[in-house]
Amino acid sequence: MPRAIETFRDEFVLEPDGPVYLDGNSLGRLPKGAQRLAAELVNKQWGERLIRGWNDGWYDLPRRLGAKIGQIIGARPGEVVVCDSTSVNLFKLTTAVLRARAPRNEIVTSERNFPSDLYVLDGVGRVRHGEANSSTAVVALTQTDFRTAETIDLVESTGDSHAAGAWALWDLSHSAGAVPIDMTASRAELAVGCTYKYLNGGPGAPAYLYVRREVQALVRSPIQGWFGHGDPFAFSTEYEPAPGAARFLAGTPPVISMALMEPGLDLILEAGMTNIRARSIELTAQLIEQADALGVEVATPRDAARRGSHVSLRHEEAWRITRALIEEHNVIPDFRGPDLIRFGVAPLYNNESDIDLAMASLDHVLATRTYENYPFARLAVP
Ligand SMILES: Cc1ncc(COP(=O)(O)O)c(C=O)c1O
Repeated sequence: MPRAIETFRDEFVLEPDGPVYLDGNSLGRLPKGAQRLAAELVNKQWGERLIRGWNDGWYDLPRRLGAKIGQIIGARPGEVVVCDSTSVNLFKLTTAVLRARAPRNEIVTSERNFPSDLYVLDGVGRVRHGEANSSTAVVALTQTDFRTAETIDLVESTGDSHAAGAWALWDLSHSAGAVPIDMTASRAELAVGCTYKYLNGGPGAPAYLYVRREVQALVRSPIQGWFGHGDPFAFSTEYEPAPGAARFLAGTPPVISMALMEPGLDLILEAGMTNIRARSIELTAQLIEQADALGVEVATPRDAARRGSHVSLRHEEAWRITRALIEEHNVIPDFRGPDLIRFGVAPLYNNESDIDLAMASLDHVLATRTYENYPFARLAVP
Protein backbone atom coordinates (compact mmCIF):
# COMPACT_ATOMS: atom_id res chain seq x y z
CA MET A 1 0.00 0.00 0.00
CA PRO A 2 1.50 3.38 -0.95
CA ARG A 3 1.59 5.88 1.84
CA ALA A 4 -1.33 8.34 2.02
CA ILE A 5 -0.34 11.74 0.73
CA GLU A 6 -1.78 13.46 3.84
CA THR A 7 0.87 11.80 6.03
CA PHE A 8 3.72 13.68 4.35
CA ARG A 9 2.81 16.79 6.34
CA ASP A 10 4.51 15.10 9.33
CA GLU A 11 7.79 15.09 7.43
CA PHE A 12 8.06 18.88 7.65
CA VAL A 13 8.97 21.16 10.53
CA LEU A 14 5.69 22.77 11.65
CA GLU A 15 5.62 24.61 14.95
CA PRO A 16 2.43 24.10 17.00
CA ASP A 17 1.41 27.76 16.79
CA GLY A 18 3.16 28.38 13.50
CA PRO A 19 1.67 30.13 10.50
CA VAL A 20 -0.82 28.81 8.01
CA TYR A 21 1.82 28.71 5.32
CA LEU A 22 0.60 29.18 1.76
CA ASP A 23 3.80 30.38 0.18
CA GLY A 24 5.45 27.10 -0.76
CA ASN A 25 5.40 28.36 -4.34
CA SER A 26 8.06 30.87 -3.27
CA LEU A 27 9.94 29.05 -0.54
CA GLY A 28 9.07 25.50 0.44
CA ARG A 29 8.95 24.42 4.08
CA LEU A 30 11.86 22.77 5.85
CA PRO A 31 11.79 18.96 5.66
CA LYS A 32 12.71 17.33 8.98
CA GLY A 33 15.19 15.23 7.03
CA ALA A 34 16.99 18.39 5.89
CA GLN A 35 17.05 19.68 9.46
CA ARG A 36 18.75 16.48 10.62
CA LEU A 37 21.10 16.42 7.65
CA ALA A 38 22.19 20.04 8.24
CA ALA A 39 23.70 19.10 11.60
CA GLU A 40 25.43 16.06 10.14
CA LEU A 41 26.71 17.98 7.12
CA VAL A 42 28.30 20.67 9.20
CA ASN A 43 29.50 18.67 12.19
CA LYS A 44 30.52 15.38 10.60
CA GLN A 45 30.99 15.89 6.88
CA TRP A 46 32.66 19.29 7.05
CA GLY A 47 33.85 19.29 10.66
CA GLU A 48 35.38 15.81 10.71
CA ARG A 49 35.70 14.45 7.21
CA LEU A 50 37.03 17.73 5.80
CA ILE A 51 38.56 17.36 2.31
CA ARG A 52 37.73 13.63 2.27
CA GLY A 53 34.08 14.67 1.96
CA TRP A 54 34.58 15.19 -1.79
CA ASN A 55 35.11 11.46 -2.25
CA ASP A 56 32.40 10.60 0.29
CA GLY A 57 29.75 12.01 -2.07
CA TRP A 58 30.18 15.76 -2.48
CA TYR A 59 31.73 15.49 -5.92
CA ASP A 60 28.79 13.51 -7.30
CA LEU A 61 26.10 15.79 -5.87
CA PRO A 62 25.29 17.75 -9.07
CA ARG A 63 24.76 14.52 -11.04
CA ARG A 64 23.19 12.46 -8.26
CA LEU A 65 20.63 15.09 -7.31
CA GLY A 66 20.18 15.87 -11.01
CA ALA A 67 19.16 12.24 -11.52
CA LYS A 68 16.54 12.57 -8.77
CA ILE A 69 15.14 15.77 -10.26
CA GLY A 70 15.29 13.98 -13.60
CA GLN A 71 12.89 11.35 -12.25
CA ILE A 72 10.55 14.10 -11.06
CA ILE A 73 10.48 15.86 -14.46
CA GLY A 74 10.51 12.78 -16.69
CA ALA A 75 14.10 12.99 -17.91
CA ARG A 76 16.48 10.14 -18.76
CA PRO A 77 19.79 9.52 -16.96
CA GLY A 78 22.49 12.09 -17.66
CA GLU A 79 20.06 14.79 -18.77
CA VAL A 80 19.81 16.85 -15.57
CA VAL A 81 22.41 18.41 -13.30
CA VAL A 82 22.06 20.67 -10.29
CA CYS A 83 24.10 23.88 -10.41
CA ASP A 84 24.07 27.66 -10.15
CA SER A 85 20.80 29.62 -10.17
CA THR A 86 17.93 29.43 -12.64
CA SER A 87 18.98 32.77 -14.11
CA VAL A 88 22.58 31.66 -14.63
CA ASN A 89 21.48 28.33 -16.12
CA LEU A 90 19.18 30.16 -18.51
CA PHE A 91 22.12 32.31 -19.58
CA LYS A 92 24.35 29.29 -20.15
CA LEU A 93 21.78 27.33 -22.16
CA THR A 94 20.50 30.16 -24.35
CA THR A 95 24.02 31.38 -25.12
CA ALA A 96 24.96 27.82 -26.06
CA VAL A 97 21.90 27.46 -28.32
CA LEU A 98 22.58 30.70 -30.17
CA ARG A 99 26.12 29.52 -30.85
CA ALA A 100 24.98 26.06 -31.89
CA ARG A 101 22.18 27.15 -34.16
CA ALA A 102 23.70 29.97 -36.24
CA PRO A 103 22.66 31.48 -38.60
CA ARG A 104 19.42 31.37 -36.57
CA ASN A 105 20.02 34.29 -34.27
CA GLU A 106 16.96 35.19 -32.27
CA ILE A 107 15.27 34.10 -29.08
CA VAL A 108 11.49 34.10 -28.92
CA THR A 109 9.69 34.53 -25.63
CA SER A 110 6.55 36.07 -24.19
CA GLU A 111 6.01 39.20 -22.10
CA ARG A 112 4.32 36.90 -19.59
CA ASN A 113 7.61 35.13 -18.92
CA PHE A 114 9.20 35.57 -15.50
CA PRO A 115 10.97 38.98 -15.45
CA SER A 116 14.38 37.56 -14.51
CA ASP A 117 14.13 35.32 -17.56
CA LEU A 118 13.28 38.32 -19.74
CA TYR A 119 16.26 40.24 -18.38
CA VAL A 120 18.63 37.33 -18.95
CA LEU A 121 17.37 36.69 -22.47
CA ASP A 122 17.67 40.38 -23.29
CA GLY A 123 21.30 40.26 -22.16
CA VAL A 124 22.03 37.18 -24.25
CA GLY A 125 20.86 38.25 -27.69
CA ARG A 126 18.09 39.46 -29.94
CA VAL A 127 14.70 38.78 -28.36
CA ARG A 128 11.26 38.91 -29.94
CA HIS A 129 7.82 38.26 -28.48
CA GLY A 130 5.52 36.27 -30.73
CA GLU A 131 5.65 33.22 -32.96
CA ALA A 132 8.86 31.41 -33.88
CA ASN A 133 10.08 31.77 -37.47
CA SER A 134 13.05 30.78 -39.60
CA SER A 135 15.36 33.13 -37.65
CA THR A 136 14.43 31.67 -34.27
CA ALA A 137 17.08 29.59 -32.55
CA VAL A 138 15.07 28.86 -29.41
CA VAL A 139 11.68 29.57 -27.86
CA ALA A 140 12.15 30.16 -24.12
CA LEU A 141 9.01 30.12 -21.96
CA THR A 142 7.98 29.45 -18.37
CA GLN A 143 5.52 26.59 -18.12
CA THR A 144 3.51 27.76 -15.10
CA ASP A 145 2.83 31.48 -14.97
CA PHE A 146 4.10 33.00 -11.70
CA ARG A 147 1.20 35.44 -11.63
CA THR A 148 -1.88 33.38 -12.44
CA ALA A 149 -0.56 29.78 -12.29
CA GLU A 150 -1.82 29.24 -15.84
CA THR A 151 0.14 26.43 -17.49
CA ILE A 152 1.26 26.01 -21.07
CA ASP A 153 0.93 22.59 -22.70
CA LEU A 154 4.54 21.40 -23.03
CA VAL A 155 3.97 18.98 -25.88
CA GLU A 156 1.82 21.30 -27.96
CA SER A 157 3.97 24.41 -27.51
CA THR A 158 7.21 22.49 -28.08
CA GLY A 159 5.64 21.09 -31.24
CA ASP A 160 4.92 24.64 -32.45
CA SER A 161 8.55 25.64 -31.85
CA HIS A 162 9.80 22.58 -33.68
CA ALA A 163 7.47 23.25 -36.61
CA ALA A 164 9.36 26.53 -37.09
CA GLY A 165 12.70 24.73 -36.76
CA ALA A 166 13.38 26.27 -33.33
CA TRP A 167 14.40 24.48 -30.14
CA ALA A 168 12.29 24.71 -27.01
CA LEU A 169 13.56 25.75 -23.58
CA TRP A 170 11.27 25.53 -20.56
CA ASP A 171 11.53 27.21 -17.18
CA LEU A 172 9.94 24.68 -14.83
CA SER A 173 10.39 26.67 -11.61
CA HIS A 174 6.68 26.81 -10.76
CA SER A 175 5.95 23.35 -12.14
CA ALA A 176 8.48 20.84 -10.83
CA GLY A 177 7.16 19.04 -7.77
CA ALA A 178 3.63 20.38 -8.34
CA VAL A 179 2.70 19.57 -11.93
CA PRO A 180 3.67 16.28 -13.59
CA ILE A 181 6.27 16.94 -16.28
CA ASP A 182 7.48 14.50 -18.91
CA MET A 183 10.49 16.12 -20.54
CA THR A 184 11.11 13.04 -22.66
CA ALA A 185 7.60 13.03 -24.10
CA SER A 186 7.65 16.81 -24.58
CA ARG A 187 10.58 16.44 -27.00
CA ALA A 188 11.87 19.81 -25.74
CA GLU A 189 15.63 20.23 -25.91
CA LEU A 190 16.30 22.28 -22.80
CA ALA A 191 14.92 23.26 -19.41
CA VAL A 192 15.88 25.10 -16.25
CA GLY A 193 14.24 25.44 -12.86
CA CYS A 194 14.74 26.27 -9.23
CA THR A 195 14.59 23.94 -6.26
CA TYR A 196 13.46 26.23 -3.44
CA LYS A 197 9.75 26.20 -4.28
CA TYR A 198 7.80 22.92 -4.49
CA LEU A 199 11.00 20.88 -4.33
CA ASN A 200 11.61 22.23 -0.80
CA GLY A 201 15.36 22.61 -1.35
CA GLY A 202 15.85 25.62 0.96
CA PRO A 203 16.38 29.36 0.54
CA GLY A 204 18.67 30.07 -2.40
CA ALA A 205 19.30 26.37 -3.00
CA PRO A 206 20.99 25.75 -6.35
CA ALA A 207 18.93 25.28 -9.50
CA TYR A 208 18.98 22.59 -12.18
CA LEU A 209 19.20 22.36 -15.93
CA TYR A 210 18.08 19.77 -18.45
CA VAL A 211 19.72 19.04 -21.79
CA ARG A 212 18.07 16.44 -23.99
CA ARG A 213 20.37 13.55 -24.77
CA GLU A 214 20.12 13.98 -28.55
CA VAL A 215 21.45 17.55 -28.48
CA GLN A 216 24.06 17.31 -25.73
CA ALA A 217 27.01 16.99 -28.09
CA LEU A 218 25.84 20.05 -30.04
CA VAL A 219 25.99 22.54 -27.19
CA ARG A 220 28.86 23.90 -25.12
CA SER A 221 28.65 26.02 -22.02
CA PRO A 222 29.84 29.61 -22.36
CA ILE A 223 31.30 29.17 -18.86
CA GLN A 224 33.85 26.44 -19.44
CA GLY A 225 34.73 25.84 -15.82
CA TRP A 226 36.63 22.84 -14.53
CA PHE A 227 33.58 21.06 -13.06
CA GLY A 228 32.17 20.87 -16.59
CA HIS A 229 35.40 19.32 -17.86
CA GLY A 230 35.45 15.61 -18.68
CA ASP A 231 38.35 15.06 -16.29
CA PRO A 232 38.78 18.10 -14.03
CA PHE A 233 41.50 16.62 -11.87
CA ALA A 234 43.74 15.80 -14.82
CA PHE A 235 44.38 19.56 -14.79
CA SER A 236 44.78 19.56 -18.53
CA THR A 237 45.37 22.95 -20.15
CA GLU A 238 42.74 22.11 -22.82
CA TYR A 239 39.00 22.21 -22.16
CA GLU A 240 37.17 19.00 -23.01
CA PRO A 241 33.47 19.06 -22.06
CA ALA A 242 32.11 16.29 -19.85
CA PRO A 243 29.56 13.93 -21.34
CA GLY A 244 25.89 14.61 -20.65
CA ALA A 245 24.28 17.68 -19.15
CA ALA A 246 27.25 17.84 -16.76
CA ARG A 247 29.11 19.81 -19.44
CA PHE A 248 27.11 22.78 -18.15
CA LEU A 249 28.62 22.62 -14.68
CA ALA A 250 31.00 25.49 -14.04
CA GLY A 251 32.73 25.78 -10.69
CA THR A 252 32.81 24.12 -7.27
CA PRO A 253 29.25 23.31 -6.11
CA PRO A 254 27.87 24.92 -2.93
CA VAL A 255 27.95 21.61 -1.08
CA ILE A 256 25.94 22.54 2.01
CA SER A 257 22.95 24.06 0.25
CA MET A 258 23.08 21.51 -2.54
CA ALA A 259 23.17 18.50 -0.24
CA LEU A 260 20.30 19.88 1.84
CA MET A 261 17.86 19.60 -1.05
CA GLU A 262 18.05 15.80 -1.11
CA PRO A 263 15.56 15.02 1.71
CA GLY A 264 12.97 17.21 -0.03
CA LEU A 265 13.51 15.45 -3.36
CA ASP A 266 13.21 12.05 -1.68
CA LEU A 267 9.82 13.00 -0.23
CA ILE A 268 8.54 13.94 -3.67
CA LEU A 269 9.81 10.71 -5.17
CA GLU A 270 8.21 8.71 -2.38
CA ALA A 271 4.85 10.49 -2.67
CA GLY A 272 4.82 10.26 -6.48
CA MET A 273 3.83 13.02 -8.89
CA THR A 274 0.44 11.50 -9.69
CA ASN A 275 -0.61 11.65 -6.03
CA ILE A 276 0.92 15.09 -5.61
CA ARG A 277 -0.99 16.39 -8.59
CA ALA A 278 -4.29 14.91 -7.41
CA ARG A 279 -3.84 16.52 -3.99
CA SER A 280 -2.91 19.86 -5.59
CA ILE A 281 -6.06 19.85 -7.70
CA GLU A 282 -8.19 18.96 -4.69
CA LEU A 283 -6.82 21.77 -2.52
CA THR A 284 -6.67 24.46 -5.22
CA ALA A 285 -10.28 23.60 -6.17
CA GLN A 286 -11.31 24.01 -2.52
CA LEU A 287 -9.58 27.38 -2.38
CA ILE A 288 -11.23 28.58 -5.60
CA GLU A 289 -14.64 27.49 -4.38
CA GLN A 290 -14.24 29.33 -1.08
CA ALA A 291 -12.86 32.45 -2.78
CA ASP A 292 -15.90 32.41 -5.07
CA ALA A 293 -18.15 32.25 -2.02
CA LEU A 294 -16.43 35.40 -0.70
CA GLY A 295 -17.00 37.12 -4.03
CA VAL A 296 -13.27 37.70 -4.64
CA GLU A 297 -12.03 37.59 -8.22
CA VAL A 298 -10.08 34.44 -9.05
CA ALA A 299 -7.26 35.13 -11.54
CA THR A 300 -6.23 31.46 -11.83
CA PRO A 301 -7.80 29.14 -14.43
CA ARG A 302 -10.77 27.19 -13.11
CA ASP A 303 -9.94 24.33 -15.44
CA ALA A 304 -7.60 22.21 -13.29
CA ALA A 305 -5.80 20.97 -16.39
CA ARG A 306 -4.69 24.53 -17.09
CA ARG A 307 -3.41 25.53 -13.67
CA GLY A 308 -0.37 24.88 -11.51
CA SER A 309 -0.48 24.74 -7.73
CA HIS A 310 -1.14 28.28 -6.60
CA VAL A 311 -4.31 30.30 -6.69
CA SER A 312 -4.16 34.04 -7.27
CA LEU A 313 -6.93 36.30 -6.11
CA ARG A 314 -7.27 39.77 -7.62
CA HIS A 315 -8.10 42.78 -5.46
CA GLU A 316 -7.07 46.42 -5.76
CA GLU A 317 -5.99 46.30 -2.11
CA ALA A 318 -4.02 43.07 -2.58
CA TRP A 319 -0.88 44.43 -0.91
CA ARG A 320 -2.53 45.67 2.29
CA ILE A 321 -4.77 42.61 2.51
CA THR A 322 -1.66 40.42 2.32
CA ARG A 323 -0.11 42.42 5.17
CA ALA A 324 -3.24 42.06 7.30
CA LEU A 325 -3.41 38.30 6.69
CA ILE A 326 0.17 37.90 7.83
CA GLU A 327 0.17 40.32 10.77
CA GLU A 328 -3.28 39.65 12.21
CA HIS A 329 -4.06 36.07 11.22
CA ASN A 330 -0.67 34.39 10.88
CA VAL A 331 -1.68 33.35 7.37
CA ILE A 332 1.17 33.68 4.87
CA PRO A 333 0.38 34.07 1.19
CA ASP A 334 2.37 36.54 -0.93
CA PHE A 335 1.71 39.53 -3.09
CA ARG A 336 2.48 40.10 -6.74
CA GLY A 337 1.83 43.58 -7.99
CA PRO A 338 -0.23 45.32 -8.88
CA ASP A 339 -3.22 43.43 -7.55
CA LEU A 340 -2.64 39.72 -6.87
CA ILE A 341 -2.60 37.77 -3.61
CA ARG A 342 -1.02 34.38 -4.31
CA PHE A 343 -1.93 31.36 -2.21
CA GLY A 344 0.59 28.62 -2.89
CA VAL A 345 -0.70 25.11 -2.27
CA ALA A 346 2.15 22.73 -1.50
CA PRO A 347 0.51 19.32 -1.86
CA LEU A 348 2.92 17.59 0.53
CA TYR A 349 2.16 19.71 3.58
CA ASN A 350 -0.88 21.89 3.02
CA ASN A 351 -4.27 20.49 3.96
CA GLU A 352 -7.97 21.34 3.97
CA SER A 353 -7.70 23.09 7.30
CA ASP A 354 -5.02 25.47 5.94
CA ILE A 355 -7.37 26.49 3.15
CA ASP A 356 -10.35 26.88 5.51
CA LEU A 357 -8.34 29.03 7.92
CA ALA A 358 -6.86 31.16 5.14
CA MET A 359 -10.24 31.86 3.54
CA ALA A 360 -11.94 32.52 6.90
CA SER A 361 -9.14 34.99 7.65
CA LEU A 362 -9.57 36.63 4.27
CA ASP A 363 -13.30 36.91 4.91
CA HIS A 364 -12.58 38.63 8.23
CA VAL A 365 -10.00 41.04 6.79
CA LEU A 366 -12.35 42.03 3.97
CA ALA A 367 -15.41 42.38 6.21
CA THR A 368 -13.66 44.46 8.90
CA ARG A 369 -11.38 46.32 6.45
CA THR A 370 -8.50 46.03 8.90
CA TYR A 371 -6.14 46.16 5.92
CA GLU A 372 -6.75 49.93 5.93
CA ASN A 373 -4.49 50.13 9.00
CA TYR A 374 -1.44 49.17 6.92
CA PRO A 375 0.79 51.48 4.90
CA PHE A 376 0.84 51.33 1.11
CA ALA A 377 4.65 51.18 1.21
CA ARG A 378 5.96 47.80 0.09
CA LEU A 379 8.58 45.75 1.89
CA ALA A 380 11.81 44.89 0.06
CA VAL A 381 10.51 41.37 -0.58
CA PRO A 382 6.70 41.60 -0.80
C1 LIG B 1 9.76 31.12 -13.15
C2 LIG B 1 11.02 31.62 -12.50
N1 LIG B 1 12.14 31.69 -13.20
C3 LIG B 1 13.29 32.14 -12.66
C4 LIG B 1 13.34 32.54 -11.35
C5 LIG B 1 14.62 33.11 -10.80
O1 LIG B 1 15.37 32.11 -10.28
P1 LIG B 1 16.83 32.38 -9.65
O2 LIG B 1 16.65 33.47 -8.66
O3 LIG B 1 17.17 31.07 -9.02
O4 LIG B 1 17.75 32.75 -10.73
C6 LIG B 1 12.19 32.46 -10.56
C7 LIG B 1 12.22 32.89 -9.15
O5 LIG B 1 11.27 32.88 -8.43
C8 LIG B 1 11.00 31.99 -11.15
O6 LIG B 1 9.87 31.93 -10.45
